[in-house]
Amino acid sequence: MRIISMEEVVQHQSPDDCWVVINGRVYDLSSFQKQHPGGSKIITDNAGKDVSHLFNEIHPNDIIQRLLPEEACIGEVDEATVDPTQHVVTGPEKAPSRGASQTSHTAESLTAAQDSWQKPVLETMLNCFDFESVASQTMTEEGWGYYSSGADDEITLRENHTAFQRIWFKPRILIDVKQIDMSTTILGHPSSLPLYFSATALGKLADPEGELAISRAAASSEVIYMLPTLSSYTLDEMLAVREPSQVQFAQLYVNAKREQTEAYIKRLEAGGAKALFVTVDAPQLGRREKDMRNKFTKNADVQKGQQVDRNKGVARAISEFIDPGLCWADLDWIKSITALPIILKGVGCGLDTVMAYQAGCAGVVLSNHGGRQLDTARSGIEILVEAVASLSHHDPNWRDRFELFVDGGIRRGSDIFKALALGATAVGIGRPVLYSLAAFGQPGVERMCALFKEELTMVMRLMGTPSIGNISAAHVLHDSLNSHVPAQACDHLQLDTYEPLRPATKI
Ligand code: LAC
Repeated sequence: MRIISMEEVVQHQSPDDCWVVINGRVYDLSSFQKQHPGGSKIITDNAGKDVSHLFNEIHPNDIIQRLLPEEACIGEVDEATVDPTQHVVTGPEKAPSRGASQTSHTAESLTAAQDSWQKPVLETMLNCFDFESVASQTMTEEGWGYYSSGADDEITLRENHTAFQRIWFKPRILIDVKQIDMSTTILGHPSSLPLYFSATALGKLADPEGELAISRAAASSEVIYMLPTLSSYTLDEMLAVREPSQVQFAQLYVNAKREQTEAYIKRLEAGGAKALFVTVDAPQLGRREKDMRNKFTKNADVQKGQQVDRNKGVARAISEFIDPGLCWADLDWIKSITALPIILKGVGCGLDTVMAYQAGCAGVVLSNHGGRQLDTARSGIEILVEAVASLSHHDPNWRDRFELFVDGGIRRGSDIFKALALGATAVGIGRPVLYSLAAFGQPGVERMCALFKEELTMVMRLMGTPSIGNISAAHVLHDSLNSHVPAQACDHLQLDTYEPLRPATKI
């Protein structure tokens, strides 16, 4: 490999001729900078520099092999010529937290509070929204925009939570509820409660320990973690932190380059992952305007008249490798290369649930991808009712070899109960994990999980259901679930945390 001095690297400082040094190698990013998930500006601002430190803070160290063409690497830097004191322009990842930066916020009530915001201690966190509220202050604009955003008008994002409020309880009394046992099995694997941590991208946007901290918190809380394909840490690093008795599942975005997907699945199998959740609701990523506007206002150097595509950012970069041509026939191929049980993640109707069952899947996740994809798609909990009816019509014995999961909007122990009553084996949670991680690191995730257990214990006791097997459809009323008219009193806990969409601002 050619040895290149820093004197030569610094000659390449323009967007069209843009070299950087990352971990000893010199890359020509003239073309890639236009598709960079974090925006082009962070790269072009640092053209001609050694950006290793900046890069390592957010990216998994195998992302270069995964996303950059081989020819982008043009040589090795002559280490003796690197100036360790060089100034690197930091991006939004390094920006001050939202609470500290006092930049844009939303509700007037929050703006005043933010001026004197002080981080509360972990012990004062009593529910998921508490973590979300703290995370909204401690996270960078970039991270918050990416995690909190939903598609288009965010109707589905909000519906995911409010749908649970249209299900009502029918409690039973005079049942011995001294001992509450919420332990269960998910695809045959033990879990301390009917909940798993779902796959969420880019954990380092929440905390430097990212997915490693989530995996450790899952182990200590005795719940299952679904490893994300689009992680900040490498797959090997995530697999390596697995405790001997811990169960990890894995999410799979199918790559248009099928050999890469095959290699990925082999690594998952070798690393001990126990199930493959194939994401099927994202042939293209949704338009999340909070995220897009961040990318536009923070990373696009419009003053210089640079061409900016507003659809770029994470969505574009990810869509480039996810295969939009994936279809039912490909499931046979996936089944032919792995013995892992296959679960389709992101199923939106009863018919597709039956098709997944017929295709030999082990289950489906009824989900709209956290409201981040198709706006006004129905909530997972609503689809669950339809899925159970369709499956039961197709085969009354479907439960012998098939499990249903729900994610989206689960914020309370009562939500878990309702999902189980309507036929789910377990629920997936996504954002609450990220927010508790962003707010307090691994202990935050552990406390969030403990609070779910505390809440579910109470609900199970008050419902007269001492164990998971006692929970049934007879315990809930869901006749207004598909009314699609949210009848909501003012829910301050949610509304004061929820950040409304904003129109364009002058840059
Ligand atoms: C998202 C993908 C990456 O929702 O799952 O952003």
